[in-house]
Amino acid sequence: MEDFHFVDKEMFCEGVSVPRIAAEAGTPFYLYSYAALERQFKAFDSAFRDVPHLICYAAKANSNLSILKIFSRLGGGADIVSGGELFRSLRAGVPAEKIVFAGVGKVRGEIASALRSNILMFNVESLQELRLINEVAKSEGKIARVALRVNPNIDPLTHPYVSTGMKQSKFGIDIDEAMKDYLEAQSLPHLKVIGIHQHIGSQLIDLKPFIEALSKIVEFIGKLKASGIEISYLDIGGGLGITYQDETPPLPCEMAEALVPLLKQAGCIVILEPGRSLAGNAGILVSRVLFTKSTSGKNFLIVDAGMSDLIRPALYQAYHEIKPVVRTGRPPVKADIVGPVCESGDFFAKAREIAQLEPGELLAVMGAGAYGFSMASHYNSRPNIPEVLVKGDKFFMIREREEYEDLIRHEKIPSFLA
Ligand code: LLP
Repeated sequence: MEDFHFVDKEMFCEGVSVPRIAAEAGTPFYLYSYAALERQFKAFDSAFRDVPHLICYAAKANSNLSILKIFSRLGGGADIVSGGELFRSLRAGVPAEKIVFAGVGKVRGEIASALRSNILMFNVESLQELRLINEVAKSEGKIARVALRVNPNIDPLTHPYVSTGMKQSKFGIDIDEAMKDYLEAQSLPHLKVIGIHQHIGSQLIDLKPFIEALSKIVEFIGKLKASGIEISYLDIGGGLGITYQDETPPLPCEMAEALVPLLKQAGCIVILEPGRSLAGNAGILVSRVLFTKSTSGKNFLIVDAGMSDLIRPALYQAYHEIKPVVRTGRPPVKADIVGPVCESGDFFAKAREIAQLEPGELLAVMGAGAYGFSMASHYNSRPNIPEVLVKGDKFFMIREREEYEDLIRHEKIPSFLA
């Protein structure tokens, strides 16, 4: 059964009617299917069953505590990029020994808390960071386990904003520099070199870049070995794409089929960091039409969600499928589907064919489970919207709608204005 499907004319998430949830939660809101999250995790887990592996879910894709908990209960860990994601992951019960910490700009405090929690390893992105981790480990009386994030200089053939593995990218250490840095890492007394990390980009639709990058990394592991550096963890990052429109990304089992021979050759424990491919198609954004209007031959559907809730179309011109939540059989019109935020960039779709909708009716922005809520903002002083999780025939509020007080919680008025 499709996780978001129609029963008669009405959209359901698993066994629950979407309009029923809307009536209770109000709009807009994010809606996630437990079955879809679980199925995707299990698809990865079983695809890589022939190599020892750990799935460290990329928390940035959707860091709601319940989502983190779902994956950790299925045996997963977390790929984090900040002290905030460390805090969330630990709070959600992700075991520290299954947490890996990437990011180009880790600060002293974040490094210290990760060391105190005994995370599995730091994915280190520069020589200066390596030295800082050594220094912080010394003052904490710890040995920091590290992997170097090696940049294999591969074009992932994806959107430039989500491409991370090319020479000009800010991420990782150039593969040609990496040996020198590994040797330094090996010599630093408060570090233990245990791994190598790569992540070449996101929303990858083609297996070729994965294979090319991994081949380079595996070859490099051989060179490390020859220099006396033994690697036990090979972290291949995330990046597998999903279908937003008509893309046909490989399935996890196809990805595994292509990569497992190389992974076996490396002989390491494999870490995977999928984000979008676990959560993306497990979530939708449900919004209500506020107004319709036509100006000089153009139709607009003005809805109650905006770029502050889902910024992907505005930021990347990303395509998201949009469906009426209740099928009416009305003829399609071509319309711009826009939000209430005061920016021309506040749109979900431009010149989109969609069955005519009337004010008060619901629509669903599909593929919104990853990089949806996690990239939300308060722009235009819009409180963050709720998140709802469906499991079977029940639904659960996993985040309440914010109140206006939440918007000003940390603001202070100086005495001269009081
Ligand atoms: N590991 C690392 C080190 C990463 O930087 C990322 C994503 C992932 C794993 C997970 O990648 P995924 O499996 O989700 O592709 N906001 C953008 C995506 C940014 C991805 C950043 N890094 C979007 O909405 O398309």
